[in-house]
Amino acid sequence: MKTQLSIANLAGTDTELLAVLAVDTQSATGSAAKPQPVLLTSDEAVISAAANVLASGEFKAGANETLLLHSPADLAAKRLLLVGLGKQAKVTVHSVRNAAGTAVRFAKPRGIREMTFALPEAEALPLPACARAAAEGASVGDFDPDTYRSDRKDLSIQSLTVLVGTRPPVAEIEETAEFDPFAEPAPVPPTPEPIDDAPIRAAFAEGVILGESQNFARSLVNEPGNKLTPTILGQRAAQMAQEVGLSWAVFSTDKLQDLKMGAFLGVAQGSAEPPALIVLRYEPEGIKDGPVLGLVGKGITFDTGGISIKPSDNMEKMKYDMAGGAAMLGAMRAIALLKPRVRVIGIVCAAENMPDGKAQKPGDVQTAMSGKTIEIINTDAEGRLVLADGLTYARQLGATHLIDAATLTGACVVALGMVNAGIFANDEDTYERFSKALATSGEKFWRLPLGEEYADMIKSDIGDIKNTGGRWGGAITAAEFLHNFAEDTPWIHLDIAGISWMEENKPYIAKGPSGIAVRSIVEWARTF
Ligand code: BES
Ligand code: MN
Ligand code: ZN
Repeated sequence: MKTQLSIANLAGTDTELLAVLAVDTQSATGSAAKPQPVLLTSDEAVISAAANVLASGEFKAGANETLLLHSPADLAAKRLLLVGLGKQAKVTVHSVRNAAGTAVRFAKPRGIREMTFALPEAEALPLPACARAAAEGASVGDFDPDTYRSDRKDLSIQSLTVLVGTRPPVAEIEETAEFDPFAEPAPVPPTPEPIDDAPIRAAFAEGVILGESQNFARSLVNEPGNKLTPTILGQRAAQMAQEVGLSWAVFSTDKLQDLKMGAFLGVAQGSAEPPALIVLRYEPEGIKDGPVLGLVGKGITFDTGGISIKPSDNMEKMKYDMAGGAAMLGAMRAIALLKPRVRVIGIVCAAENMPDGKAQKPGDVQTAMSGKTIEIINTDAEGRLVLADGLTYARQLGATHLIDAATLTGACVVALGMVNAGIFANDEDTYERFSKALATSGEKFWRLPLGEEYADMIKSDIGDIKNTGGRWGGAITAAEFLHNFAEDTPWIHLDIAGISWMEENKPYIAKGPSGIAVRSIVEWARTF
């Protein structure tokens, strides 16, 4: 999808489809009154083209509700698409992001290849933030997961224009007015204030990068285990790194042995596929001190559970057990392009968790890179094992702040459903930064606690810690396991198990890989 930002008159925009936003202005309290949709544009021609259908009550401007008009009167556009943002009091920039995705996903199956999305004119919706959100939402909406269908028709939108509306030029108004020699001279309409487009353009460019980086992560998560082994994930990461100018290295078994990554190797040893330790570095010029961010992702390209094998129902889903790793790669891509003034190291611990004659067994004891010994209770609790060594390695490479992302526990899905992902943090300042990042990214995360009582639940009789703490509080004991390796380095853990794969289509995003966490992690990095 090619995207551009344009500042022009809506009515005069020649396009296959012009999407315009609407809100329901009915107050939240007056529930008996009927919805009152209002278009978020001052363009008279657009308002009159939609007047009849708005009066009909057929379109209520509910969130992501759509209504299409062909050949709208007095517009250069072939089609006018109204997209609802929902109740006015609840509308935010995040509603605009979704609306842009909705508009794109409306157009795609209808064979429309070129379209225009008009940004809302509303006091509460600053144009730069809207431009960014629209660019993100449109890219995300353009993605479909059916890449292996032999009759797949690529329905992508080829060209999307995000439009900042202007009033029609004064000359145009005069031309259409009928000449009446007895009439009072028409008042000259005030020249609208010129739009300061630099911040809008900058924000729009950021949105394009973020949306495409999220889609990069989604494309990786979508790949099946046979098409995306740890080695191939390493190749894809290297290729991306080269494209955006990150330094990179991809290591395998020998290096893991040199580094004494016993926890990571223990997981990998059950697979014929060698593991991959992916290391990407972003080093902005002239920055020699200050924080170094360590981004660590779980990259299990397929999780059978190992010897503690999973039931076969739904096991195919476990191809997305590398979504945390993919999120880190997507974030590193965006960071390389957005160039924040902070050093960042991205690490993905990629392996396949398989049962095999050489696989690790319950009861085995592994020595992690940090020297801590781990009793393996359940080989299906493998994510925390690869991350343990990833976190230790990030610290060894100089990370002063850590963030990890992982499809770590079913328990987190039980706790938060498929709505919020879990956040854990050992440091309030670092958490506050992430919380601020969420306000910008619009992604949904909810904080869960850490605590010594939970840490006690994973003490081992034979070694230092065990890799499961039983059923209760499973997301938290998993986080406490990782805490053993982050130690007191400021650290955030994101458990994205419930949110990485969407079970249902939404108007603004296809079912399948969500690309969750990419935007929030990038935003977090930009706060440093
Ligand atoms: N990859 C799974 C967690 C998962 C569950 C991801 C559902 C996505 C959706 C993880 O490796 C796992 O198997 N965790 C176990 C841990 C248990 C054995 C302590 C779990 O959550 O059941
Ligand atoms: Mn598992
Ligand atoms: Zn797993």
